[in-house]
Amino acid sequence: MRVITQQKLGGPEVLTIADVPEPRPLPTEVLVRVKAIGLNPLEARLRDGEFPLLGQPPFVLGWDVSGVVEEALTWRFRPGDEVFGMPLFPRAANAYAEAVAAPALHLVRKPEKLSHVEAAALPIVGLTAWQGLVDLGGVSAGDRVLIHGGGGGVGHVAIQIAKALGAHVIATASESKREFVEGLGADEVIDYKKVDFSEVVSEIDVVLDTLGGDTVERSLGVLRPGGHLVTAVADEDTALIAKFEAAGMRFSGIGVDPDPVALRQLVGLVEQGKLRVHVQETFPFERVADAHRLLDGGHLQGKVVLTVG
Ligand SMILES: NC(=O)c1ccc[n+]([C@@H]2O[C@H](COP(=O)([O-])OP(=O)(O)OC[C@H]3O[C@@H](n4cnc5c(N)ncnc54)[C@H](OP(=O)(O)O)[C@@H]3O)[C@@H](O)[C@H]2O)c1
Repeated sequence: MRVITQQKLGGPEVLTIADVPEPRPLPTEVLVRVKAIGLNPLEARLRDGEFPLLGQPPFVLGWDVSGVVEEALTWRFRPGDEVFGMPLFPRAANAYAEAVAAPALHLVRKPEKLSHVEAAALPIVGLTAWQGLVDLGGVSAGDRVLIHGGGGGVGHVAIQIAKALGAHVIATASESKREFVEGLGADEVIDYKKVDFSEVVSEIDVVLDTLGGDTVERSLGVLRPGGHLVTAVADEDTALIAKFEAAGMRFSGIGVDPDPVALRQLVGLVEQGKLRVHVQETFPFERVADAHRLLDGGHLQGKVVLTVG
């Protein structure tokens, strides 16, 4: 089978296609014939070495996949089942590939309402948003929720989850994404290039941060007493956490994991028509370098996906 691999760290041009033996599933695992691969900004940072999660090359990037079970050494699936997930994260899943061997427990059935492209785009961003808003944030009906980066991968799913939970949702995004973000259900959109959110927002129960940097500290002032900031980006900065605690607020960092129960909850929202996945652009497998150039540029609207075969 073909994989996308790299022999050295660097720009998108280091990504090359190689032929390797197909992986063999172990008992409790399946072999998935991959139809689509979702890309995430993290993978660009692994590719160029900024974040050495997979160590030194050669390695194969990728976690988010959707495809068809070809071999099942498990009672959970049968050959022909359509599945998707983010297996093995944060260990290497070698998912930039035509086939992936994965624990059956890390995959769920693909709903008919999602194409393979849409399903491959969902797991990492969907589970990050779910774990941030539901598991950590405990968002419930009537809460005021502020979502930073509302037009991006995590943000666009988070807005829809928060709305499905009955929250009042405020999102930051650039003006060009206003219509998109309002279409996802955001009650208020703040153009971060023109307006400082910390001057116009208040009494927030939960902030979901996808930006890091000074956005985290500036969000402290918009929380109501006892409010909770959940970030997908900031490191466990003990001084910052202490500042939140001293102010009577809570601070949590998300480390997303491949929780199949939560992934099924996301499938439920999709089936109820409460969650859709926006794919900004798809690229064929062979054009992975162009897809990574888009990741490197930032300012994504929804997701970027590779199609296979
Ligand atoms: N901790 C974890 O487990 C975990 C899991 C998933 C993702 N992450 C991290 O979370 C971050 C977001 O991921 P993602 O997939 O959502 O990225 P993404 O798709 O690139 O989205 C980021 C969004 O933020 C917007 N943005 C940039 N600067 C902004 C600002 N100052 N204010 C408001 N919006 C701004 C961008 O577009 P515009 O500038 O055009 O508005 C873009 O839409 C990444 O750093 C990723 O690595 C962490």
